Amino acid sequence: MPLSKTPQHDALLPVGEEALEAAIALLERGRIVAVPTETVYGLAADATSGTAVASIYAAKGRPQFNPLISHVDGLEMALKYAVFDARAEKMAELFWPGSLTIVLSRQPNCEINELVTAGLDTIALRCPDHTFTQSLIAQLKRPLAAPSANPSGRLSPTDAEAVREAFSSDDLPLVVDGGSCTVGLESTIVSCVPGKPLIILRPGAVTLEELQLVFGPHDVRDHTASLKDQAQPAAPGMLLSHYAPKAALKLVSGGENPTNRDALLTFAGAALSADDGCDPFVQRDLSPTGDMKEAASNLFSMLRELDAFAPETIYVISPPCTGLGVAIHDRLQRAAAPRIKDTDIRES
Ligand code: TXA
Ligand code: MG
Repeated sequence: MPLSKTPQHDALLPVGEEALEAAIALLERGRIVAVPTETVYGLAADATSGTAVASIYAAKGRPQFNPLISHVDGLEMALKYAVFDARAEKMAELFWPGSLTIVLSRQPNCEINELVTAGLDTIALRCPDHTFTQSLIAQLKRPLAAPSANPSGRLSPTDAEAVREAFSSDDLPLVVDGGSCTVGLESTIVSCVPGKPLIILRPGAVTLEELQLVFGPHDVRDHTASLKDQAQPAAPGMLLSHYAPKAALKLVSGGENPTNRDALLTFAGAALSADDGCDPFVQRDLSPTGDMKEAASNLFSMLRELDAFAPETIYVISPPCTGLGVAIHDRLQRAAAPRIKDTDIRES
């Protein structure tokens, strides 16, 4: 994306007023900014903007949509987006700000874009222990979606120079330099589902023992360890089924046609000819102008919307399989595959 309208500033700014103003200006325009946290640097975007979040996936070059952590400035903001039970409130009280991410049910009217949660009904929330990034979230008045600021498959960065080296300034117009991260390891991720023990999905600085001291030895389990026992790869988010529509889903490019009991999801005005018997009773377009970021930001919400009409099958004309289209295509193929639990969420 051209930077002609970006305010003039260096791509790397030290934490402080100038960086705060520049970061807010960019985030409000839907751009991404790398910010320091105490764990690792994050690649941040306004979590309520689908196209901004799509830019994170595009910059990271991820071939899949993995759910992202939403960063809040404290419990009050968190309560707007997730359902907290007594345990979750206790964890926030004891470990926030800090390296603990809590996975909770989304609030029914949660304004976080569905691309952040990759279509899941749960949301991962964390309040980072970093003055700059907390002020940024507070002044933006919205959570920041932020994965670790590394290109897909590379190590999480713990200083600003590593982030700047890894991305072009077109993709990432600003890196805020907060020095070296004090923890240097990604946050502990704990799933907190009502009626179930707490489960550690990813180990980090907040340990199993610390959590067991608070909640008791039987009420906190280490998912990672139990997976290792079964000689399976330990990845956060595993065993959490991604949203798949209730209707069957078919990827088509012609030949097979939706009937008046089916729905159709298209891209860039692509159409199947009515002459060939294409007659869907409901239809949506991921991006009429062919904008891949818009398509990514609409993917989960439009699938959900079409599914609510209870069609027999949702036919999909997928966007081209390049750039962000690779992740869109991957998600659609999985939704089209025979329905098994999605155990293939990988580390990002
Ligand atoms: O310390 C950290 O957590 C850093 C800093 C920037 O906050 N962030 C980070 O984000 O490590 P990321 O995207 O690299 O890793 C987030 C992990 C993903 O592996 C994802 O599977 C998991 O969090 N995750 C996010 N939402 C989830 C959900 N609803 N259920 C289960 N896992 C989830
Ligand atoms: Mg990561």
